[in-house]
Amino acid sequence: MNNDLQERENWTSKLGFILAAAGSAVGLGNIWRFPYVTGENGGAAFLLIYLIAIILIGYPVMVAEMSLGRKTEKNPVGAFKNLAPDTPWWLVGALGVFTGFVILSYYSVIAGWSMAYIVQAANGFTSEMDFAGLFGGHISSVGEPLLWHATFMGITIGIISAGVVKGIQKAVKILMPILFILLVALVFRSVSLEGAGEGLAFYLAPDFSQLTWYSLNEAIAQAFFTLSLGMGAMITYGSYLSKDDNISDSAGYVLGLDTLIAVLSGFAIFPAVFALGLSPDAGPGLTFITLPAVFAEMPLGTLFGFLFFVLLTIAAITSAISLLEVVVAYMVDEHEWERKKAAQVVGIVIFLVGIPPLLGYSALSDFQFLGMDILDTYDWFANAIFLPLGGLLTAIFAGYVWGARNTADEANKAEGVLSVGNLFGVLIKYVVPVAIGTIMVVGIWQTLAG
Ligand code: PFF
Repeated sequence: MNNDLQERENWTSKLGFILAAAGSAVGLGNIWRFPYVTGENGGAAFLLIYLIAIILIGYPVMVAEMSLGRKTEKNPVGAFKNLAPDTPWWLVGALGVFTGFVILSYYSVIAGWSMAYIVQAANGFTSEMDFAGLFGGHISSVGEPLLWHATFMGITIGIISAGVVKGIQKAVKILMPILFILLVALVFRSVSLEGAGEGLAFYLAPDFSQLTWYSLNEAIAQAFFTLSLGMGAMITYGSYLSKDDNISDSAGYVLGLDTLIAVLSGFAIFPAVFALGLSPDAGPGLTFITLPAVFAEMPLGTLFGFLFFVLLTIAAITSAISLLEVVVAYMVDEHEWERKKAAQVVGIVIFLVGIPPLLGYSALSDFQFLGMDILDTYDWFANAIFLPLGGLLTAIFAGYVWGARNTADEANKAEGVLSVGNLFGVLIKYVVPVAIGTIMVVGIWQTLAG
């Protein structure tokens, strides 16, 4: 079909949009990253500052992105071009498209580990196993991770090829409820284990002595990543949104769902980790090393281990489709590519770009950048630089160029419970740029200083 003649697709319901955007937000960031970052930063005290970051920074940026998208009905590049023609602002959109490309390339590698662990879990985790060795062995092999990386990209390409309604919306309507039910089941299992109380205390009783400046930094970076902000994913999803939806409300729901899932995954993980006498600060290995050890010990552990990795994979799929959609929407709108072709070509290129980080634990393990392997290097550029920079510039654009008033008017267009106003203007014009500017400088400086 010639896409010139094709009307832009719209989500067919308010719920369709909310689930798609929440699906984008809820991902590895909630279930893999949030618990380990919280675990490393002292638990409850970190949770508190993270929640503040979500509300004061995440919410206004999300409203701005969704409004930009719906107003212009365009991909990130087209959106900036449309509102500020003949200026360099479109480069912010281009940065977003590029960031989507980079994040998906390594996101798919991690999602591939999760798929491999579904099979691993089905075969059973037993207490004699050396879980660090198992994980290290998996990621430092080549064939299997490559196969799973390809499979994951294949699924993502398949969904995006099918379109916004028949692909994305259909997938999230099936996957998001399953994800929620699995997570609730895991929470019940975890908090009912003997000795779960200590984990609950760690997670719920704040100890501010554990907080450092670095934690503040991490909280804001986590807020951006988990809410899919700073790279135009919410601009793109907003571009398929009908004018009858109230964005102030929708952004609130998405934020609420994302936070609920992150908080619940903490409840699924910390009580179990403490109940088995393990430590919650294992870093990125928390999910792949500590948790299998937990599953090996707990009653019905094989079943719950299997369900956990299914859950993690589902969460990754509904986020990955939004990453690919950003790049595909750009190719379709700006270069008039046909959707299927765009999904396939872009998807394959992203798969290839993901190979170096995948090999960073084997053939390319000598490569180090500031002491980081290739995957961590991609992740660092995305999280420490591209996403905050994209978010900062988007906030400045919405606040000053398009104007906070225009942005708010677009957000409040339809009747709703919430409506953004003066406070939104203050947040988007002052609080967000100052906060993000500060964390970027501190974050980059800390990494460079080692
Ligand atoms: N929000 C996703 C997660 O928490 O895993 C990651 C992500 C998806 C980031 C889409 C950015 C994005 F545009």
